[in-house]
Amino acid sequence: MEDFRITKQLQASNAGGKKNWPDDDEALLELSADGITSRPENFWCLKDAFEGVQILGATGSGKSSGSGRALAKAFIESNLGGLVLTAKNDEVLTWKRYAKEAGRETELLIVGPDSPHRFNFLRYELKRPGTGAGHTENLVNLFCSVLEAAERKQGQGGGQDAYWQRTLKQLLRNAIDLAVLSLDDIDLPSLYRIITSAPRSPDEALNSEWQESSACFALLEVAKSKVEQTDRKSDLELTRDFWLREFPSLAPETRSVIVSTFTSMADCFLRGMLRKLFCTDLNFTPEDTFNGKIIILNLPVKEFNELGQFAQVLFKFVWQRAVERRISADMRREDAQAAVRPVFLWADESQFFVNSYDALFQSTARSSRACTVYLTQNLPSYFSAFGGQNSRSDAESFLGNLQTKIFHANGDPTTNNWAADSIGKTRQAQFYGGLSEALARGGAMNQNAGGSMVVEFVVQPQEFTMLRTGGPESKFLVDSIIFQGGRRWVALKKGEPAAQNYIRHVFSQQT
Ligand SMILES: Nc1ncnc2c1ncn2[C@@H]1O[C@H](COP(=O)(O)OP(=O)(O)OP(=O)(O)O)[C@@H](O)[C@H]1O
Ligand SMILES: [Mg+2]
Repeated sequence: MEDFRITKQLQASNAGGKKNWPDDDEALLELSADGITSRPENFWCLKDAFEGVQILGATGSGKSSGSGRALAKAFIESNLGGLVLTAKNDEVLTWKRYAKEAGRETELLIVGPDSPHRFNFLRYELKRPGTGAGHTENLVNLFCSVLEAAERKQGQGGGQDAYWQRTLKQLLRNAIDLAVLSLDDIDLPSLYRIITSAPRSPDEALNSEWQESSACFALLEVAKSKVEQTDRKSDLELTRDFWLREFPSLAPETRSVIVSTFTSMADCFLRGMLRKLFCTDLNFTPEDTFNGKIIILNLPVKEFNELGQFAQVLFKFVWQRAVERRISADMRREDAQAAVRPVFLWADESQFFVNSYDALFQSTARSSRACTVYLTQNLPSYFSAFGGQNSRSDAESFLGNLQTKIFHANGDPTTNNWAADSIGKTRQAQFYGGLSEALARGGAMNQNAGGSMVVEFVVQPQEFTMLRTGGPESKFLVDSIIFQGGRRWVALKKGEPAAQNYIRHVFSQQT
């Protein structure tokens, strides 16, 4: 009964509802406004938001209460749907306040330990509409996105080892296939039992004692009798071959690493809060945000540690996939603008949630009408989040996908140099002049003056150390320097408008 309701709801939700959101080129914010002249060149619109935002600034620099607040309020007032990931305990209260101010409290869907909301992710993957529903590969990728976060936590480095990744995927794929072939269903306990009862050597696979006690073997037998006369016979042969030959022949260390990687993650979802939220019923889905709901995952990482992180990374991945599916390839952009509600993905302290799928998601975000806003302190926090040998280049290429960068005060030289570098250098005239010492000693006056052209940063790295950070001492004003790839802004220089590739904006913490 419930599944029927959910299926109906999913089918209905691909439309965004009646249009009550701005056009793509209407201003959400007007940057560097002087309150006198409105400059369309400095409008920051939905089309900019679709290209992604990264906010960077030291602790207490005004990210959350300055630029973050301005963007969040603009999204809520514009009736966007959204997904909010949380790291700190007070974030849910902040979002409640924003929603209340915009009269949208009833559209908040707050998922937390005491809420009645349930998202059985495996059931959702099997029942959801659209091609690819229930396909093994989606589930494999879903698990891998969570495992990527789990691995980093354990300091194993961001899954750089291709062989290891491939073997883990193979394990998941075969466990899922066996569950489907034998039980016509997938649940986490079954996958867990299959994986933990698999043979650990080729001899064990032939051992009758093992065969009698192993859930893996029992399900292989059930599947055999089920698929006898069907076109899935060859699938089963592959699966059988994996469990009885390939898996037991893996090097014991490889096998134990991949099995324990899976079980340590699955363990979290098999008990307590995560089991209740993610492995029982299904009464909300990512598609709810397409109708204007704002889902807040109130499982802050600072309180729930890796449980909060796994749960949020998992839901984020499922949500991103749903967003990518929602617009058919043949839909014209004008039609999408009128019919498909924009949605946002919000992650303050984004270093906890970022993973390799984000870059892929961002590359199609414009057509799927999704606005990602990530806030973090500095670049090194992303380097350690990505982990592994290529962490720096992975982080930088990820950042390249979020086009609008809002820089607040920062003491981190890596971030400040990178920010100055992104804005670039110009040839600037440097002048000097003076009187030589000869005059002081009573000699002839020797005056010199001159100039030379030097290549200098347009914005010096140390400027980022001096931006105002809000609070009473800076009259609740937060300075920022904003850079957006390929964008020209207009700022007043010596009273004259001049085009430049960055813009300064002061955010108020109060209005
Ligand atoms: N609503 C507010 N009104 C006035 N001052 C505030 C408000 N919220 C925060 N502040 C102050 O403004 C400064 C910036 O705070 P904010 O929380 O925005 O920083 P942040 O960059 O998000 O830091 P963190 O990385 O620690 O989250 C801090 O000094 C803080 O005490
Ligand atoms: Mg903050």
